[in-house]
Amino acid sequence: MCGIVGYIGKTAVREVILKGLERLEYRGYDSAGIAVKDDDKISLVKKKGRIEELSVEDLPESTIGIGHTRWATHGKPSDKNAHPFLDCSGDISIVHNGIIDNFVSIKERLRDKGHEFNSDTDSEVIAHLIEENYRGDLVEALRSSVKELEGSYAIVAIHSEKNEIAAARNQSPLVVGVGDGENLLASDVPALLDHTQDVKYLQDGDIVRLTSGSIDIWDRTGGEVERITKTVEWSIEDAEKGGYEHYMLKEIHEQPQAIHDSILGRLKGFEDLDLKRYRIDSIRLIACGTSFHAGLVGKYIIEEISSIPCMVEMASEYRYSSRLSEYPFTILLSQSGETADTLAAAKEASLRGCKTLGITNVLDSSLTREVDEVIYTQAGPEIGVAATKTFTTQIVVLYLLAMELGLMKKTLDVDKADNYRNELRRLPRLVERILDRSDQIKELSSELASAKDIFFIGRNINYPVAMEGALKLKEIAYIHAAGYPAGELKHGPFALLTEETPVIAICIKDKTYQKMLGNIGEIAARDSPIYGVGIEDKEIQKLSDHNIYIPEVMPLFSPVVVNVALQLFSYYTAYELGREIDKPRNLAKSVTVE
Ligand code: F6R
Repeated sequence: MCGIVGYIGKTAVREVILKGLERLEYRGYDSAGIAVKDDDKISLVKKKGRIEELSVEDLPESTIGIGHTRWATHGKPSDKNAHPFLDCSGDISIVHNGIIDNFVSIKERLRDKGHEFNSDTDSEVIAHLIEENYRGDLVEALRSSVKELEGSYAIVAIHSEKNEIAAARNQSPLVVGVGDGENLLASDVPALLDHTQDVKYLQDGDIVRLTSGSIDIWDRTGGEVERITKTVEWSIEDAEKGGYEHYMLKEIHEQPQAIHDSILGRLKGFEDLDLKRYRIDSIRLIACGTSFHAGLVGKYIIEEISSIPCMVEMASEYRYSSRLSEYPFTILLSQSGETADTLAAAKEASLRGCKTLGITNVLDSSLTREVDEVIYTQAGPEIGVAATKTFTTQIVVLYLLAMELGLMKKTLDVDKADNYRNELRRLPRLVERILDRSDQIKELSSELASAKDIFFIGRNINYPVAMEGALKLKEIAYIHAAGYPAGELKHGPFALLTEETPVIAICIKDKTYQKMLGNIGEIAARDSPIYGVGIEDKEIQKLSDHNIYIPEVMPLFSPVVVNVALQLFSYYTAYELGREIDKPRNLAKSVTVE
């Protein structure tokens, strides 16, 4: 999704913006641009393609500027549709993230007044609107302009005659970096970390004026407000690759630590979370993509541990479902906390009278403002577009939550809870043992790389793990894959099984074990190569062509361990195929459009 960087200060701005945009590359983009203010003039470069293709040497030396990476929503990826945009006079330049719903009517009105537009985007109207409202004060002009906008936006604007940057936020992330003799704005923290770890998270409706030595913020009522400065613990090293070839591999390897951090201090319950205040007779989990799969795993966890009935829904579908006269406690899962579908679902759930809990990885993300309660996953920044450690930590949080609910409702006895706690404490070590098998998985993955279709199968709690395994492979290796409950293949997909259709079968010694062996046997009879992922066992060995053994683990906790093996399968298959693993084509890290 689009990235924004704004800088005003003491350093040559071209390099600052370029570096900041690079740090936001993980969000995905298709074009980029930079505008700088120098000697009462705005100069601009923008282009379809990668940041490195921008001819920044054409820009003058300056210390005020804005930059943008665009992920197309209105108008194709192209040079003309890239940000920043200028007004008619060329004195005002803006970058924008989000979507302006009423841009067509604004454009028509401004056209009637003589404005000429050069792009197909919704964003360009903002520069022209500010021009219309400009009476010598950029912040005032921005304030009047956003009053006319419907939709979501993070807007950052500069004017050729002003030594300041003006910005506005509504439903699109924007963070101020508090520097020393310099100040910054960005859509996410990594872009600020080269300059400062002190940040102010803007809130919906906020307008801000930055100079090199001051930060003034007004809320939607127009009153001046203080937004507290927080020191982010993420160092630049945290946000960089740490010696791994890809962020994704680094993040897969960070999982033991991420699990540990997510459990830390929470095994006896979540501080600051008083669930007793809510009536929790049933639960609805809502999310998208990988977070949706975590929700599906969560259903098994919550029902098993707390005996509370649970259903799971995709955020993009939830809003259109029938309103029933029941108010399930609603949990919204989103690693970024910025996914538009999930935010819309959170709003809808509140409108329906449901109490809501958000589980997210990003401090102060938009989701945290839409829900009644929040739990952070504590995975640390995830840069690779494919979610890995955030999925694992979402599941870990769901174990902890299910235990808290079970103990609260007395549906979980204390001894059982102790067993679960012990198993949770073991998880980081168990995951390390899978990571130690990376070389073996890498070797097997080189065989998978030539496949056109791959099935992932599992049963019960490992059925959604199979779905997640398939999603990851599609996403980063660009191989078509389907995650199926093992018992379902014979109801249709069997027609696709040949010696060229590998099947990755998750086989855990749980209540489905014997049935699963039967399913694998049926597949073996159709000549599909079988890659068994499960506990070391002669039966599976007999039926499978290849095996990845996972360490002994309580079946309820097996998804965490199995999934790490599947992540490595996808990673090494994509690697073998030379894919752009951290930035898969057509995908964005946080999807802020519905
Ligand atoms: C897949 C992936 C996506 C996200 C989905 C929801 O690897 O990352 O499927 O899981 O876009 O994103 P969040 O969790 O940020 O709401």
